[in-house]
Amino acid sequence: MTAVRKIAVLGAGNIGGTLAQRLAESGIADEVVLIDIIEGLPQGKALDIQESAPILGFATRVRGSTSLDDLAGADLVVETAGLARKPGMSRSDLLAKNAEILRAHALAVKARCPGSIVQVVTNPVDVMTYWFREVSGQPPARVFGESGTLDTARFRWFVADALHVAPRDVTGFVLGTHGDTMVPVLSLTSVSGVPLRQLLGAEALAAIVTRTQKGGGEIVDLLKMGSAYYAPTAAQAELCGAVARDEKRLLGVTAHLGGEYGLRDLCLGVPVVLGRGGVERILEVPLSDEERRAFEASAAAVRADLQALAQMPRAA
Ligand code: 2OP
Repeated sequence: MTAVRKIAVLGAGNIGGTLAQRLAESGIADEVVLIDIIEGLPQGKALDIQESAPILGFATRVRGSTSLDDLAGADLVVETAGLARKPGMSRSDLLAKNAEILRAHALAVKARCPGSIVQVVTNPVDVMTYWFREVSGQPPARVFGESGTLDTARFRWFVADALHVAPRDVTGFVLGTHGDTMVPVLSLTSVSGVPLRQLLGAEALAAIVTRTQKGGGEIVDLLKMGSAYYAPTAAQAELCGAVARDEKRLLGVTAHLGGEYGLRDLCLGVPVVLGRGGVERILEVPLSDEERRAFEASAAAVRADLQALAQMPRAA
């Protein structure tokens, strides 16, 4: 049995297309609709994914569309539209252009599927999540951003690789912004319960922290055109599953803060309980003094980017 009727994926680029494939194969929805402005692109990718159904055995209907009207009836919306980084660009460089694209989409969600849960992926994701919520007028719990789960996956992999242990046995959190000031929280990282600091020395840990913070950029530099999409879509699909199946997973997402961690009126990566209601609870986890300072620096970086939105029109 599927968990939800319909998931809409906005943007049919590498992220949107790969995510639609993962969602179709996971069987969590009756229908996945892939929406993009480029005629033929969403239809072509959707049909290609659909034609794999006889081999892979999934029953999901996959449809491509160029109309935002196809958001109607969506239980879950994943916003992937917008420009991706090129070498030398920061996520913040994308801000104005992507805010314009997301404004139209947020207004369409408000009009066509106001009860849906929205996952924002577009960068700079902390700012875009804030913007999408503000323009759509959705309750804060129903709009969150994907960042921490991806950054944590990269961090977990680097730790697993250094220790030669199974990646799934490494658990932890990367909090704060999805940018160079993100905070891999060493004090909350363990390998099957064994604290990370008992397993790796300070130098090795510092190298892993830096590599995690620059994880997205490492892929951008290697690809030279476009940015990562395999690990990002794995994270996005995991978050969709948590919402659609009401799993109450404890995961890192970009959430709207209303006083947690002494911060309000901004979106930042924090641990949350994710279920059918979206962000059902934000957890305030203990941080060391150094981690707390890094988390606050992360918040300051997001606040600086939020200033750029002040002049942008909200309405259609
Ligand atoms: C990344 O970190 C695309 O921001 C995304 O790869």
